Amino acid sequence: MRTLQPEQDAIFGLAIGATGTGKSLHTRRMIPRLLRWSPRVLVLDPKGDYRNECGGLISVGDTIRWLASDAPGIVGCMIVSDIDRDYIGRAIWKYGSVFVVADEFQFYGDSTRFKSDSWRQIVTMGRSYGIKVIAVTQRLTMLPKDLLTNATDILMFRTSCNRDTKSLIDVAGDSAGRVSSLPRFRALKWGEHPELWEA
Ligand SMILES: Nc1ncnc2c1ncn2[C@@H]1O[C@H](COP(=O)(O)OP(=O)(O)O)[C@@H](O)[C@H]1O
Ligand SMILES: [Mg+2]
Repeated sequence: MRTLQPEQDAIFGLAIGATGTGKSLHTRRMIPRLLRWSPRVLVLDPKGDYRNECGGLISVGDTIRWLASDAPGIVGCMIVSDIDRDYIGRAIWKYGSVFVVADEFQFYGDSTRFKSDSWRQIVTMGRSYGIKVIAVTQRLTMLPKDLLTNATDILMFRTSCNRDTKSLIDVAGDSAGRVSSLPRFRALKWGEHPELWEA
C-alpha cells in the first residue's frame, strides 16, 4: 500500500530526444540497475522494446495485481491505449513505492494537460510516496510544463526541435544549446543523480 516516504531519494528522470537517437536502448541497459534504487521496477512499453530486460511482457490486469501484491522484481507491461495508461496510472497512484519506466511518454498528455489525473498526480506528487519515474519521450514541449519543472534528472539526446532546446536552456543553462548538434547515440545529462544514467 502507498505510504509517505519523504526520506527516500526522489527521482523523476526524463530521457528526451528525436526518434532513433538511442533513448530506448540506453534505458533498456539501465533496467537491471534500477533495482539499486527500488525493489520494484515496472516498465511501460508500448513498442515491446524491453521484453528481454523484463523476462517477457504481462497484461494490464496482471500488472495491476502485481502492483497490489508488493512483490519485488522487474515487470514489463505492453500498454497500447489511453485506457491502459489510465488503469495503470491509477494503480500506481494507489499502491505507490515502485520505480516506473514509461517509454513513449508523449502519449500520456499534451502541452497543457495529462490525459489522466493519476499521471498528473504521479508526476507532481509521486516523489513523496516513493514513486520514482523515468519518462522517455521524443518531444518535451508536447507535454505539460509539470514534467520539466518536476524533473530531478534529465538525459538529453539530439533534438531538432528549437522549442525543446529553448525549454532546456531555461532549466540547464546555455550549455544545453549543444543538444541540437549532438551525434547519434550521445547524450548530455543534468541533475541530482548522475549515477542513475551511467553508461
Ligand atoms: N549506442 C548505440 N550504438 C549502436 N546502436 C545503437 C545505440 N543506441 C541505439 N542503437 C540502435 O539504434 C536504433 C534506435 O535506437 P532506439 O534506442 O530504439 O532509439 P529511440 O528510442 O531514441 O527511438 C536501434 O536499432 C538501436 O539498436
Ligand atoms: Mg524508443
